[in-house]
Amino acid sequence: MKVLHVCSEVFPFLKTGGLADVTGALPQALDKFGIANRLLVPGFPAFIESLENKIIVKEITNKFGASSVRVLFGTLNGVEAYVIEAPELYNRIGNPYADKDGIAYSDNYLRFALLSWVAAQLAASLDQEWVPDVVHGHDWHAGLTPLYIRSIEEYTGIKLAKTILTVHNLAYQGVFPDYVYNELELAQKYFSVDGLEFYGQVSFLKAGLYFADKITTVSPSYAIEIQGKEQGCGLDGLLLSRAHDLYGVLNGVDPDVWSPANDTTIAKNYEIKSLEGKSECRKALQSHTGLEEQDDKPIFVVVSRLTEQKGLHLVVEAARDIVGKGGQLAILGSGEKEIEEAFTELATEFPQSIAVQLGYDENHAHRLIAGGDVILVPSRFEPCGLTQLYGMAYGTLPLVRKVGGLKDTVTDSSLENLDDGIATGFVFDAFNIDEFKSAMRRAFALYSRKTEWNRFQKIAMAKDFGWDVAAKTYIDIYKS
Ligand code: ADP
Ligand code: GLC
Repeated sequence: MKVLHVCSEVFPFLKTGGLADVTGALPQALDKFGIANRLLVPGFPAFIESLENKIIVKEITNKFGASSVRVLFGTLNGVEAYVIEAPELYNRIGNPYADKDGIAYSDNYLRFALLSWVAAQLAASLDQEWVPDVVHGHDWHAGLTPLYIRSIEEYTGIKLAKTILTVHNLAYQGVFPDYVYNELELAQKYFSVDGLEFYGQVSFLKAGLYFADKITTVSPSYAIEIQGKEQGCGLDGLLLSRAHDLYGVLNGVDPDVWSPANDTTIAKNYEIKSLEGKSECRKALQSHTGLEEQDDKPIFVVVSRLTEQKGLHLVVEAARDIVGKGGQLAILGSGEKEIEEAFTELATEFPQSIAVQLGYDENHAHRLIAGGDVILVPSRFEPCGLTQLYGMAYGTLPLVRKVGGLKDTVTDSSLENLDDGIATGFVFDAFNIDEFKSAMRRAFALYSRKTEWNRFQKIAMAKDFGWDVAAKTYIDIYKS
């Protein structure tokens, strides 16, 4: 079976969040089970520069505002990939969606329409040597793909590939004003409630949710949550009506990138049998960030986009408590100015106990996850979440809110769960500071009992969050 993945980010080439980790790992995971995968990505500089053994598959003129479009084929880290070279649309360094001030590019509807349009052309034999059986789109950037495919099918009467859309985050929908519609090269009839129209606007994500043969999201709980008002972001009705085609498939961890035994970026490797290396990583973290050296109180770490979704106001609010109890806090993140400033102020006030690094830094992310004791993920909503999984793999116990993928992956350290040897972290339920603080207190209490803490770490580290289970589930969905 041949599967084409359509997406805008892929680790290690271009990443703004977990989407890239998934698209960077899933093709190889599927490949192990005999699926022939190819990627299709926009020609952002990071992809153009990394594409090896490239050939030109097709040249097209004047498409979606680009005078010249070339569909290239080659390999990205050994994975076969099509890259759409269209310099007017894609030759912009940095964040793939927004300029350096964080303002979304005004032609994003054209940039991502072209991505989906090329996906549909590949389904319609643009490359005669490789025609996909399934086209698997990721997030709103690929949302128009099932519709362009449908549109060709209706025009030619010929059935093309089946389509699947994975929602990594329903909060990002690719919604544009109605007047862009006539630039999308689609028949007027699709601009309707039974199509991509969303409260009078054009929604790329809705197009995907409406026209894809199957829909998946990245955890079983989130698949249920998005069918309700609270987390449905206005699309709950549609998702509910498609419930029989909607699956929650939990993401995995790529052991080539996130495993303490092989991680080349950390101070000392370690594994479940011997955790001495973790103490070295802990010391290295303290010395790198200027935190005072101590080992009797926990270091809490955060590696996150700083957005409303991630619930980090709770961490800001609890920071003084952490310091008051002798604990430490090390943060890496970037995003909303208000949260960045709140953390920076705290770090200035408590330089020995709170360290903040703003910006994106892959090596520092590994340093924190290896050197910390507890990783904080108090999200308001979380489709899957990957850092809590990375934390468990590194014996850095997650403290999470009971929502979405966090709820599906972390088992609370209640007395019963500790007794049964199944606890892997600290879970709180209602989004409020009291519940957050009481989970934190449990972390402090357990940390002071070193033998128990060690046992607890090992249970978390032994959890298997590899990609095999997800890969097999996706294959079942492709086959269906
Ligand atoms: P989301 O995709 O919602 O941001 P995930 O937990 O799924 O959340 O994935 C986040 C990914 O981005 C992880 O690989 C995490 O290590 C990484 N990450 C987040 N913020 C940063 C940062 N400032 N620097 C480096 N990596 C980061
Ligand atoms: C999104 C979600 C996150 C998920 C990631 C990868 O960015 O916010 O929860 O882990 O996609 O699927």
